[in-house]
Amino acid sequence: MDPIRNPYAPGAGQRPPELAGRDEQLTTFDVVLQRIAKGRPERSMILTGLRGVGKTVLLNALRGQAVRAGWGTGKFEARPDQTLRRPMAAAAHTAVRELGHTHSDQVDHVLGVVKSFAQRDSAPNAKLRERWNPGIDAAAVPGRADSGDIEIDLVELLTDIGGLAQDLGRGIAIFIDEMQDIGPDDISALCAACHEISQSSLPVIVVGAGLPHLPAVLSASKSYSERLFRYACIDRLERDAADAALVVPAQEEHAEFALDALAEMYAVTGGYPYFIQAYGKEVWDLAPGTPITREDVLVAVPRAEAELAVGFFGSRYERATPAERDYLRAMAEVAVVDADGSPVRMGSATEPESELGGGSGAELESVPTSEVAKWLGKQPQSLSPARDALLKKGLIYSTERGRIAFTVPHFGRYLRDHP
Ligand SMILES: Nc1ncnc2c1ncn2[C@@H]1O[C@H](COP(=O)(O)OP(=O)(O)OP(=O)(O)O)[C@@H](O)[C@H]1O
Ligand SMILES: [Mg+2]
Repeated sequence: MDPIRNPYAPGAGQRPPELAGRDEQLTTFDVVLQRIAKGRPERSMILTGLRGVGKTVLLNALRGQAVRAGWGTGKFEARPDQTLRRPMAAAAHTAVRELGHTHSDQVDHVLGVVKSFAQRDSAPNAKLRERWNPGIDAAAVPGRADSGDIEIDLVELLTDIGGLAQDLGRGIAIFIDEMQDIGPDDISALCAACHEISQSSLPVIVVGAGLPHLPAVLSASKSYSERLFRYACIDRLERDAADAALVVPAQEEHAEFALDALAEMYAVTGGYPYFIQAYGKEVWDLAPGTPITREDVLVAVPRAEAELAVGFFGSRYERATPAERDYLRAMAEVAVVDADGSPVRMGSATEPESELGGGSGAELESVPTSEVAKWLGKQPQSLSPARDALLKKGLIYSTERGRIAFTVPHFGRYLRDHP
């Protein structure tokens, strides 16, 4: 069918043609916004999930909701090598500007606080030209949000921008993507600041998104974080939502899917949003016409898989060193179990191939690190560097003590299919 009219949108953070299956989170957030606007106590929100489930897209949708409610919003993506101060300053700056109030003394003052918060990023004795210039058109307010203690400074920053929003009858929402990448000192300061702000009934909220272990990162930092945040697990889509993600955009282009085509799509995508877009895009381009049939899907699958092997899986695999790759492959192998849950050791000539799908048996979601070590014939401690590096790169995460899992859905299968 006409590739120019292809509605599907595989890509990191790409807005899907139909945001399917997220009504619950959107409704919840609406309630949160309204409650905060009324000065009611509310918790900040954290979205967690695997790669490609749609966290960024949902975060952007929630931001859109806040903007429509007249809130000032800002957003940044955390990076492992960056401290919180600059991106937070930039987000706060955007949020104040979005409040869209013409210059008044109060707005200038708050912008000045954002500026002094930002400029504290440089050493206090840094020469003027070495100082980071956040591009804020107001005079810095010395003595506010610039103590150098990130926790104190965050509280002052959020208090002041929240106070401005409150006076204007509005709110402030700061959105943080890849939140698991914030360093330990900054994450602890952020929790403490959220805690402080939540007691002040100021209309300020932080909305974070990150990998499944983010709640563990937060509670390791501050034990009260379990009560501080409202956690929403963003998962693969249920069958009806997955169908809607394909059918609704097709309908807008006057195209349809046959019922068995939808069933086949669900079987291959597992309901993972990224895969839905990726397979949807290929099948649209290859199908001769509407309705799209199951045969069209079967023809498109190898093409979609080849595309994913390069873009989605391969690019991540490339980032691993040889030792890390061995570790990933061992994880993929020990994850395969047979029907009664006992390990199936693929690759060993004595084991018959499992009957479950393409030679791979049922798959464990997480595997014990001790089993990975055993598979590699190494001492668990000797593998810590590889494991830690993979954790840091966000390719794996620890589900519970002594167990790890891939952050990328279907990664194990990809590794087993690409020896
Ligand atoms: N609810 C949804 N319905 C349909 N498609 C979706 C939905 N959510 C996300 N997508 C699609 O899935 C893909 C991945 O989305 P997104 O980048 O938001 O995932 P993510 O969870 O942020 O991934 P990562 O962890 O890699 O950052 C995009 O192509 C997007 O269009
Ligand atoms: Mg994302």
